[in-house]
Amino acid sequence: MKLLTAEFPQSRLRRNRQDAWCRDLVAETQLSVKDFVLPLFIREDDTPREIPAMPGTFRYSLNELVAICKKAQDLGIRAVALFPYTKDSLKSEDAAEAINPDNLVCQGTRVIKEALPELGIIVDVALDLYTTHGHDGIVRRGQVDNDESIKVLTKMALAQAKAGVDVVAPSDMMDGRIGAIRTALDQAGYQNVRVLAYSAKYASAYYGPFRQALGSFSALGKADKRTYQMDPANALEALREGAQDLLEGADMLMVKPALPYLDIIYRLKEAFPIPIFAYQVSAEYSTLKAAGERGWIDYESAMLESLISIKRAGASAIFTYAALEMAELIQR
Ligand code: PBG
Repeated sequence: MKLLTAEFPQSRLRRNRQDAWCRDLVAETQLSVKDFVLPLFIREDDTPREIPAMPGTFRYSLNELVAICKKAQDLGIRAVALFPYTKDSLKSEDAAEAINPDNLVCQGTRVIKEALPELGIIVDVALDLYTTHGHDGIVRRGQVDNDESIKVLTKMALAQAKAGVDVVAPSDMMDGRIGAIRTALDQAGYQNVRVLAYSAKYASAYYGPFRQALGSFSALGKADKRTYQMDPANALEALREGAQDLLEGADMLMVKPALPYLDIIYRLKEAFPIPIFAYQVSAEYSTLKAAGERGWIDYESAMLESLISIKRAGASAIFTYAALEMAELIQR
């Protein structure tokens, strides 16, 4: 580095920072509305709309979905990620509702595709929103059974593809599910449906507000997901996860949460020639919101800084609950 940089006072790094136009010209990272994916929660009509732990975020009924998606599309957002609030009465040990071709997420997909065919639709493949115990897989003898879970996850992905989902996103962290889902999609004629592998999904406390928003919180109780989601202490393991998912046919890899795992985004980006997505998860959003509401930080600036950092680390797309707000801000 010494060879490349002149020393002070010949070199004054503040020269390029002195006016806004110049700061813009030398900016190394650009945040664009086109980088955002907007996660949307879908509800039945009799489920509350408000989500107390995520101010400014709502559950939308099927009638409300197109309007919010239209708003996103008009702002330049290219894709949405749909998450259903499944009623307790539809949850079961075997997650049968997950493979129901008329479940809420499949209905939502059809409604959006019909009205806004150019908006990308991404849907999670995991069983936690459909199981009475709140785990992402099938539980046998007190354990989340990898291979039994894959059978259901594969059927779930097929039902989603049939409904018109563009990208299926296995977020369950079972071993071998990417290959199984890819093979099943291909055999059923869905060669063009993409697979976004949640390769580095950590067992994180930052999912709390999401679990409240979708009612999987109480089901899970004191249990945690550490036998399948990754240990926050590990980075090399994320490279192994990424390598496996790449070899099994993933089209994109996901790192989740985002800000506490910028090093993982960076490492995966350096290691693999495949787009890396990042999920700025619920508590990343809610903590900034809460601090902003108390006047402890400037919410908009902190959110923008967080998003640009995720991009700088190497993410090519970011799932963020702030997508609409930030799209409006960027375009202002
Ligand atoms: C389901 C899933 C979770 C999130 C996305 N998909 C929760 C979990 O794994 O418990 C969390 C997203 C967020 O916190 O915003 N497997």
